[in-house]
Amino acid sequence: MRFTQFFRRKPLAAYSEDIKTSQLKRTLGKWELTAIGVGAVIGGGIFVLTGVAANQYAGPALALSFVLAGIGCLLAALCYAEFASILPVSGSAYAYSYGTVGELFAWFIGWNLILEYMMGATTVAVSWSKYFTKLLQLCGLDSLPPWLLNDPFTAKEEAARLGTSAPVFSINLPAALIIWIVTYILIKGIKESARTNNFIVSLKVAAVLFVIIAGISYINPSNWEPFIPARTVDNAGVGHYGIQGVITAAGIVFFAFIGFDAVSTQSQEAVNPTRDIPFAIIASLVICTALYLMVSLVLTGMVSYQVIDLGAPVASAFSSVGLYWASMLITVAAVIGLISVMLVMLLSQTRIFLNMAKDGLLPPRLFAAIHPVYKTPWKSTILLGALASLIAAVTPIEKATKMTSIGTLLAFAMICCAVLVLRKSQPDLKRPYRVKYLPLVASLGFLFNLLLMFSLDWSTWIRLIIWSIAGFLVYFLYSARHSRLNNQEK
Ligand code: ALA
Repeated sequence: MRFTQFFRRKPLAAYSEDIKTSQLKRTLGKWELTAIGVGAVIGGGIFVLTGVAANQYAGPALALSFVLAGIGCLLAALCYAEFASILPVSGSAYAYSYGTVGELFAWFIGWNLILEYMMGATTVAVSWSKYFTKLLQLCGLDSLPPWLLNDPFTAKEEAARLGTSAPVFSINLPAALIIWIVTYILIKGIKESARTNNFIVSLKVAAVLFVIIAGISYINPSNWEPFIPARTVDNAGVGHYGIQGVITAAGIVFFAFIGFDAVSTQSQEAVNPTRDIPFAIIASLVICTALYLMVSLVLTGMVSYQVIDLGAPVASAFSSVGLYWASMLITVAAVIGLISVMLVMLLSQTRIFLNMAKDGLLPPRLFAAIHPVYKTPWKSTILLGALASLIAAVTPIEKATKMTSIGTLLAFAMICCAVLVLRKSQPDLKRPYRVKYLPLVASLGFLFNLLLMFSLDWSTWIRLIIWSIAGFLVYFLYSARHSRLNNQEK
């Protein structure tokens, strides 16, 4: 192993070869791609995390937190869009940096994208299970025993809260099962997935619009005062509210924006990737940011942040004003809508694995095996489903959320650097989507994403460090030895 190998780049010509030899079918147009983006973005973040973010950290200024997180994402999205227009391949930030910055950097981005996509899907599965449980209750069917509804940590906390003894064994069964259902849909193929996705996304957007339109007349402006509550520190030393609280909440609701970049993993299934992928990335982010701002204002206007529900805040806001039917409607839409997030997240993850395996950085027999009939990477989809469902069964939502966010923020910060490096190192490359004032956009994007990373707690940082060390070990023990670029250097 030589030092220079860490910085070697995949020749851009090799990407054209990948595109030519791709066995994936090109079926996705620009609105289907945008639907994939919106489908990946609107999910557990807006339906679940808004409660904690407003109640604990931002108060009515939750909308400001959404603006901050949205700005960070938009800056990164612009960088993504430029990259995607140069390299219309399906490996996302991983592929872009392999062609520009170097192998080790690319590997590290790919490794963190596992946090974004696999942990993201896992987090959403856990959120889904909460809404599913709520739905069962609303229907009077809450007959599942508690030890089948919670991970062991949450089960222990619940028992302590209720003053009962903790169950010896506990798993989140609905979260694990829903991952398997999504895995099955994905193995069957992209066209079926896109069709299912379009249906679910329409339903989800309709539900969000409904929240905004139906909720406006229930806004009580006194709930917005004070807009930024004064900063307090509790007995455990945890700070709440104030400007700092707004930034912490931005780090939490950042999760709600994750997913727009999933569009870039669909390049090889896109009919016209260089034009439609940048469009879909920006369009899905702009649509979701607008919806989020309105939902957060309506929500904090309907209910005081001090009494907002932490489990299902959006649905509960409506029952709190007596609209039980609306609460039911939103719960049903969330139960169905969150499925599309998992669908896109897991789909994207398998496409990144596929790219890494083709480059020799992961075992190709497992990660690049395409099903002869369905034309999907079926083996890696099954492996991913097994891992995600296992983690979903035993992990509390808060830990999963923060882990997803920190990994994604790191990947975004890295991509902002990478796109700038490429502009300087290869200024004459054809860039169908060229960002204006790129040095400013990329630098601000880098700083914003770093700021949000620092708003997360130290235990999340420690997990990120452990995860990163594991990534470097895999790289040095397997990937660096099996990289396809080794052959080209011989
Ligand atoms: N943005 C996605 C969600 O909120 C991950 O569920």
